[in-house]
Amino acid sequence: MDAKKITTHTLLEMKRRGEKISMLTAYDFSLARILDDAGIDVILVGDSASNVMAGHETTLPITLDQMIYHASSVVRAVKRALVVVDLPFGSYQGNSKEALNSAIRIMKESGAHAVKLEGGAEIIESVSRILSAGVPVMGHLGLTPQSIYKFGTYVVRAREDAEAQKLMDDAHMLEQAGCFAVVLEKIPATLAGKVAHQIQMPVIGIGAGNQVDGQVLVLHDMLGINKEFNPRFLRRYADLYGTIHQATQSYINDVKSRDFPNEKEQY
Ligand code: KIV
Repeated sequence: MDAKKITTHTLLEMKRRGEKISMLTAYDFSLARILDDAGIDVILVGDSASNVMAGHETTLPITLDQMIYHASSVVRAVKRALVVVDLPFGSYQGNSKEALNSAIRIMKESGAHAVKLEGGAEIIESVSRILSAGVPVMGHLGLTPQSIYKFGTYVVRAREDAEAQKLMDDAHMLEQAGCFAVVLEKIPATLAGKVAHQIQMPVIGIGAGNQVDGQVLVLHDMLGINKEFNPRFLRRYADLYGTIHQATQSYINDVKSRDFPNEKEQY
């Protein structure tokens, strides 16, 4: 294996020496190749593809087959980054055998390096069974979008003591089971920092402050392709909506005015 490739072990080493971990989502070959060339550490083939690629309101509708399609496109583009794939809603909650079968399908059919599951104690049996088959698992606690109809809202999680304590217990449980990292989504920064301090595995935050071991954002949000989604934690690094909109209008004008194609652009 190429020594420069990022592995789950590399991430642990990064945490030990205090180097922050960068993670972004990607769902297709072309954008994954740009992220990998730019030096991203981890690419998450998130079930947020359900929202940003397919236009669904939630992450619930995306299927295992669709996740495998996105993941295999990403894997074909990547030379260095660790590729983690979300197990979609309904593919692991039923029982641990179903969870293992889903994880194995993702690993075999996409060539990805690890899977991510949402939840703590409720799914620990599935996590353990997947791990026992040699498949690396990333946890996901705090706001877990697959449970949106249970929460009813996308507000900040674990503000109350009882929920904060459960999150801390879940993080310890995932670590003891053998997970290599955990995502903490939309929780108070002090709680996220406390978790990162108490556990050895890397903690990757999204809306969880800067006391954690790394950060993840949804690519289409940070590139400014989505204009409607404006949570406080989001920093936009580009306005691709504006750029693409303007380019499209220029193209339309050039076609309508017969400016495109010109003599040099034809055979
Ligand atoms: O699906 C996704 O994009 C995610 C991130 C928000 C962490 O799970």
